[in-house]
Amino acid sequence: LPLRAALLPVLLLLAACDSREPRKPAAAAWIWIGAVTDSTAEIRAKITRPLVRARVEASHRGDFDSLVVSRAVRTLPFRKDEVYLFRLGGLRPDTPYRFRLIVDDSADTASAGTFRTFPSGPASFRFALGSCARTGSTHPVFDRILDQDPLFFLHTGDLHYENVASTDPDEYRRAYDEALASPVQRRFFRSLPVPYMWDDHDFGGDNSDSTSHGREAARKIYREYVPHYPLARGGTLQQAFTVGRIRFLVTDCRSGRSPWKAPDGPKKTMLGPEQKDWLKAELLAARDAYPLIVWVSSLPWIGTGGKDGWSMYAHERRELASFIAGNGIGNLCMLSGDAHMLAIDDGTHSGYAEGGGGAFPVFHAAPLDRPGSVKGGPYSHGTLSHRGQFGLMSVRDRGGEVEVTWEGMDHSGAVVMRHSFKAGNPR
Ligand SMILES: [Fe+2]
Repeated sequence: LPLRAALLPVLLLLAACDSREPRKPAAAAWIWIGAVTDSTAEIRAKITRPLVRARVEASHRGDFDSLVVSRAVRTLPFRKDEVYLFRLGGLRPDTPYRFRLIVDDSADTASAGTFRTFPSGPASFRFALGSCARTGSTHPVFDRILDQDPLFFLHTGDLHYENVASTDPDEYRRAYDEALASPVQRRFFRSLPVPYMWDDHDFGGDNSDSTSHGREAARKIYREYVPHYPLARGGTLQQAFTVGRIRFLVTDCRSGRSPWKAPDGPKKTMLGPEQKDWLKAELLAARDAYPLIVWVSSLPWIGTGGKDGWSMYAHERRELASFIAGNGIGNLCMLSGDAHMLAIDDGTHSGYAEGGGGAFPVFHAAPLDRPGSVKGGPYSHGTLSHRGQFGLMSVRDRGGEVEVTWEGMDHSGAVVMRHSFKAGNPR
């Protein structure tokens, strides 16, 4: 007590000095956490000050006394308005972390964030998914998603609606910056991991494809801005990652595809030849290794006619469905966006293999903040198309078959659509 009493005036003086210190503006316009595994994570930050020394500190206790990692990938000199990549390694699986940005040796308190590493081996978890928000949206749906405390948010595209189709990379930079700097999304992207694959409006404009003028600039800025898993060979951005015993195959349905108006046939492709080979190889490899494979396709799988979806690529759809049926890949489901709707099909309408079969459950979750619309179908559980919707996927895994529950959520956080199924490897 005497010691504390003696120190009190000093502490008060320090506190007073502190309160007179003008509050520094945030050093980063935005922070995006992603590419999380059971032991690693990537943090991207757009730092708005010139010539800074920057690093990220992460701690699993939150006190930053138990620092796990702090390493910046880029070295000096940093430029103003540059996106920095920080890689965290040596993390513990299934563990919550807090992180903060250290700029010029002082902690940038406005840039603190959180994430949880993914579990390895049999584990139950829940994540959220959705697509389609107007550029810079401040819709409360982002906070409703955080309320659910999902392990991560799978963003299936249309992160902005700037429809850039330019060869100028700065136009893509501006579009992402505008989206990520909204106060609501700024909080969102540093509060949980957000794996992301583009759709049309954030790749090259409405219904865009591999002929987009902006293709190379879009690809360059994706690699610069977006925390992502290792990219496979070829020009498309497909990625795979694993959570517990669930394998995610995220396909790029824009940058490798033929124009939707092209006549259908063996040459018309949604994925491009390299990505299609990759998908088949990944499906085969995952069939026996994981109880469930989640194929992420921004575009609707089910339907006839229309404009943009797999229905206009029916030849390739039949080829893939026949591959799935012929190789006995029964532990597959699809997550999808693009259409501004919640929709679930339990596998009644999704079998397109030669002679029937090759079906799997399909879940559409959108729009975050755009007017509703319906594409494709029919869907066994119908459709709901209102602004402010998202999806939740829960996995219960005790080491045998896994139980999956899909929930379509409205902007108030209420469940408005639901479907459960079991998946497992019969072999
Ligand atoms: Fe959209």
